[in-house]
Amino acid sequence: MSNCLGLDIGTSSVKAALFDGRGRTVARASEPLAMRVPQPGWAEQNPVDWWKAATRAIRRAVGSGRSARRVDAIGLSGQMHSSVFLDAAGKVIRPALLWCDGRTTAQCHEIASRVDQASLRSWVSNPPLEGFTLPKILWLRDNEPAAFARLAKVLLPKDYVRLQLSGVLATEPSDASGTLLFDVANRRWSREMLAAMDLSPDLLPDVGGSTEILGTVSARAATATGLAAGTPIVGGGADNACGAVGVGAVAPGAVVASWGTSGTVVCPTAAPKVDPQMRAHTFCHAVPDTWYVMGVMLTAGAAFAWLERELAQELAKKKDAADLLNREAARVPIGALGLTFLPYLQGERTPHRDAEARGAFVGLSLAHTRAHLTRAVLEGICFGLRDSLAIIEELGLAVPEVMITGGGANASFVRQLQADVYGKPVVPVDQGEGPALGAALLAAVGAGAFPDVAAAVQTIRRRPAVGPRADAHRAYDEPYRRFTRLYPALRAAR
Ligand code: XUL
Repeated sequence: MSNCLGLDIGTSSVKAALFDGRGRTVARASEPLAMRVPQPGWAEQNPVDWWKAATRAIRRAVGSGRSARRVDAIGLSGQMHSSVFLDAAGKVIRPALLWCDGRTTAQCHEIASRVDQASLRSWVSNPPLEGFTLPKILWLRDNEPAAFARLAKVLLPKDYVRLQLSGVLATEPSDASGTLLFDVANRRWSREMLAAMDLSPDLLPDVGGSTEILGTVSARAATATGLAAGTPIVGGGADNACGAVGVGAVAPGAVVASWGTSGTVVCPTAAPKVDPQMRAHTFCHAVPDTWYVMGVMLTAGAAFAWLERELAQELAKKKDAADLLNREAARVPIGALGLTFLPYLQGERTPHRDAEARGAFVGLSLAHTRAHLTRAVLEGICFGLRDSLAIIEELGLAVPEVMITGGGANASFVRQLQADVYGKPVVPVDQGEGPALGAALLAAVGAGAFPDVAAAVQTIRRRPAVGPRADAHRAYDEPYRRFTRLYPALRAAR
């Protein structure tokens, strides 16, 4: 049976994880990445740094030379939407504008003025949002015309790493969905949208399948990574799609809440389902004939990381800094003594669709300590995810339980907090590798180890569910109401 490597190009790190045929982790390595925020609301990374970090992570996870571990197939996963702009020679033209970059409001307005809501819904299933790839292409056209004149290809992060690994220009439906140039319902590039925006289809790569082998490791990449030349690479998927595969959320009825840098709630559907107000996104899953509705918070894990970095500097060097903060917060009562945190540090997508939204602590008093601030941040993240769950239920999709993964699944206090705020059982899934496991499972299907993704996810182990406590759930009603009232009030004050 196969050993498969999952590679996840995240925002805070690149992770490489090698799994055996039963989905058990054989080896893992993670290389940190920095995000540049040159102005409030902007966010950039250089794709070349992703590739450098990927080569280091692969070398560490797989080893090299005679002692290298066997890798039968590779699956790629990565942050969605971020724009890799390449010239005709395949060189990166400028740093990528990331999924959480909000500088493209003018371009979103242009899209909305050229394409009416009904056409957007039928052509691409989503509204123009600053984080999506199309507005970033238009931003380059409007602001850096010399760079735009050189633009030959636009890739997504994991597909740039695919190009470096194999020399192949390709993507797959789950990541293509986030460009606003993809016909999500029919799983092909939208000729209509490209024509409406005067863009050439040549800018985009071919679309293959998530479990299809789209290339193999080149001799050059073999030298850089220690992988064997010729190792097959499957299409893989967007990090949210791979994250869902990695917890077994591949069919309707499964819902997963995940805290990475962003926070997302993914709900698979058997047909594309579009929120009439388009507050949540509708994208292709990494599984054939399956889509998902997804609510996205731009800064969930990022809000906690910000708190840790800026308000707990003396803990920053400790390995268990997050645990210490969680323990402090656990001693504070529900509602943090009237303190509310709005987690909109980089704008927000769901439910507000507002790149200008900003974070806030509201209700501060001399009675509040860092523990209250931490509790308010954690509650604010959970309230934001509850907003997404509410939209999913409004769409008529059942949420019997919520699988949880990422930062919010690690500490028992935060697991219970999620259960209590959502009023649903939460099920931590027994793996710490996130999207890398999903990508590796897609690779295992591509390598023939499983007949399909549904069979591959049978290897995933769930941990016991954590039930909501009825009295605690009720006690969150008032803090949640306060939370939902504050965004419109602060918006009116801008
Ligand atoms: C989803 C989104 C984020 C990134 C994070 O639409 O923008 O979740 O995929 O990597």
